[in-house]
Amino acid sequence: MPAPVTAPEIQARKGGDKIRMITAYDAPTARIADRAGADVILVGDSVANVVLGRGDTLAMTVDEMVYHTRAVTLTEPHALVVGDMPWLSYHTSPEDTVRNAGRLVREGGAGAVKLEGGRKRLPMIEAVRDAEIPVMGHLGLTPQSVHTMGGYRVQGRQAADAYELISEAGVLADAGVFAIVLEGVPDLVAEMITAEVTVPTIGIGAGPACDGQVLVFHDLLGLGGGPLPKFVRQYADLADTAVAAVEAFFADVQSGTFPAEAETYHMPAESAAILRELREGATLFRAEGPEGDHLLADEAMER
Ligand code: KIV
Repeated sequence: MPAPVTAPEIQARKGGDKIRMITAYDAPTARIADRAGADVILVGDSVANVVLGRGDTLAMTVDEMVYHTRAVTLTEPHALVVGDMPWLSYHTSPEDTVRNAGRLVREGGAGAVKLEGGRKRLPMIEAVRDAEIPVMGHLGLTPQSVHTMGGYRVQGRQAADAYELISEAGVLADAGVFAIVLEGVPDLVAEMITAEVTVPTIGIGAGPACDGQVLVFHDLLGLGGGPLPKFVRQYADLADTAVAAVEAFFADVQSGTFPAEAETYHMPAESAAILRELREGATLFRAEGPEGDHLLADEAMER
């Protein structure tokens, strides 16, 4: 089993083979991602939307992110596991940020953390890096900023906003992040950032020029509940496949064809014979009271 992928190895992939990243939130999704050859598994706070049925990511807590990160790392994937820092876990102070990032590493087993935002986050990024935890940045459509963005909107469509995003990416790279997720930005902006910064960019709704791509596991596999954003390519419809399988199970239950012989446990023949004798005896002696039952049972057990 080769050693797990590290953050420096991902950083060294700048301009090389495209980085393959996908989200996962528990053991089965982590195993699938890893078997498929993920370089990076992101335990994203998108778990709120696609697993926990919430409308946004804002209510996610550090405890919840640790819980999901641990479920992923217990499968011992080859991929680098990045734990997503939830809203307000890195906004109040560098000390809080280090404590929370440390929990994702120490309790969750992550090899790196991700946080959203640009130059506003510099003191937190520096503090986390000083604590020897690799940091992945995230710019553009940052879902934790849903209220200040006025909804989930593509960012950097206007030249001035795009210019600012490019500058923010440079700031993050200078601060030592090992990679930057670019979400929901026009392809030209992602292309310029990718050309400008020395660390890999990983796109989601950011066009093809990025050094890697990421999608949300449930979106890619057709397990999401609602309409998908334009940038998602859905590679399978597992929800339909799953519904058909569960319907088939229910039909077999109703027809009595489940469980079949092969799905049923049996007693050893001798134990079955003793049990039958016990039951027959119990029926015979029931009229004489409970002592009769016990006498016959003892006799049968001795044989
Ligand atoms: O939480 C998440 O899944 C993410 C990805 C969309 C990059 O941050």
